Amino acid sequence: MKILAFESSCDETACAIVENGRVVFSNVIASQILTHQKTQGVVPEVAARKHVPKLIAVYTEALKQAGMTMNEIDAIACSVKPGLVNCLITGASMASTLAMIYKKPLIPVNHKLGHVLSCMLNSEDDFEYPVVVLSVSGGHNELYFMKSPTEIELLGSTLDDAAGEAYDKVAKMLGMKYPGGPEISRAATNGNPKKYKLPYPLPTQKLNFSFSGLKTNVKYLIQELSKSLPLEEFRDDVAASFQWTINNNLSRKLVECAIDKQALEIHLVGGVSANLDLREQISNRKPDNMIFRRPLDFNFCTDNAAMIASAAFFVPKTEWKNPGESLEV
Ligand code: KG4
Ligand code: ZN
Repeated sequence: MKILAFESSCDETACAIVENGRVVFSNVIASQILTHQKTQGVVPEVAARKHVPKLIAVYTEALKQAGMTMNEIDAIACSVKPGLVNCLITGASMASTLAMIYKKPLIPVNHKLGHVLSCMLNSEDDFEYPVVVLSVSGGHNELYFMKSPTEIELLGSTLDDAAGEAYDKVAKMLGMKYPGGPEISRAATNGNPKKYKLPYPLPTQKLNFSFSGLKTNVKYLIQELSKSLPLEEFRDDVAASFQWTINNNLSRKLVECAIDKQALEIHLVGGVSANLDLREQISNRKPDNMIFRRPLDFNFCTDNAAMIASAAFFVPKTEWKNPGESLEV
């Protein structure tokens, strides 16, 4: 079954075609990063307006790259929640219109489910269940217990900020560009991760996370250091110390949870899963016999439509819409 999907929940306008939840025929992403760098973050109204002129372009390109016409597409999907509502509406309108024109079923997909299943994209392996999944992104930070692609239980989440948001805010404090994650990890390669000791966030809860306190600690540290040093002299060390602390927290909670749950595999997904230090900390910490997967392509970590097309394959038929039936975002 070939599904064509749209993703427009935040600042990526994307369209992809995926077969049976796995085989990616095309994965086209138009990023708005340059626009949002000017404001050092996403302004929802601006993001929504930017999606509109890109939707037809990414759709046409996805069909072209796959070498397909709409006759070969079995269903159309789009992310419907969570996300910026103005932005979601653009992709959902495009998907609904195409479903009506081409008389195809329409599959609403939860954006978070897309991330959770994203290790499946282009993978030739069958997963060994149960799997514990850590989904870390700009908007969400969650631990899941997965018995199959359709049996997924939420174990814990952040009580305040997501890890990606903390990366973005700390990067902003250090005068870096949006999005902050890649900037911090680049600066951290030149810094000493043990230079500044930052507290381990939320030690009393094994399954939940909290990063707003860590953010404040970094803010005070920067204020203190700025009294005697120029930013360039401590920036890389602060970036490295922050990255080590947050990744130590994420990797410990993930691996300890997976051991408690007797998981056979651990999966790391979402935008922050692109972080190489986080991948390394998890690899070093996990038991040898536990399989560690992350999305097979960096484009499957951050927001993309391939993961939406993949997740759509597992959405029960009772949730599908007929062409012309309304979608809720
Ligand atoms: O999944 P995503 O594209 O959007 C949401 O659903 O939120 O994730 C974006 C987040 C941003 O906060 C960005 O800074 C972070 O992922 N990110 C990274 C890296 N690449 C992207 N964080 C740490 N290290 C990276 N290499
Ligand atoms: Zn996302």
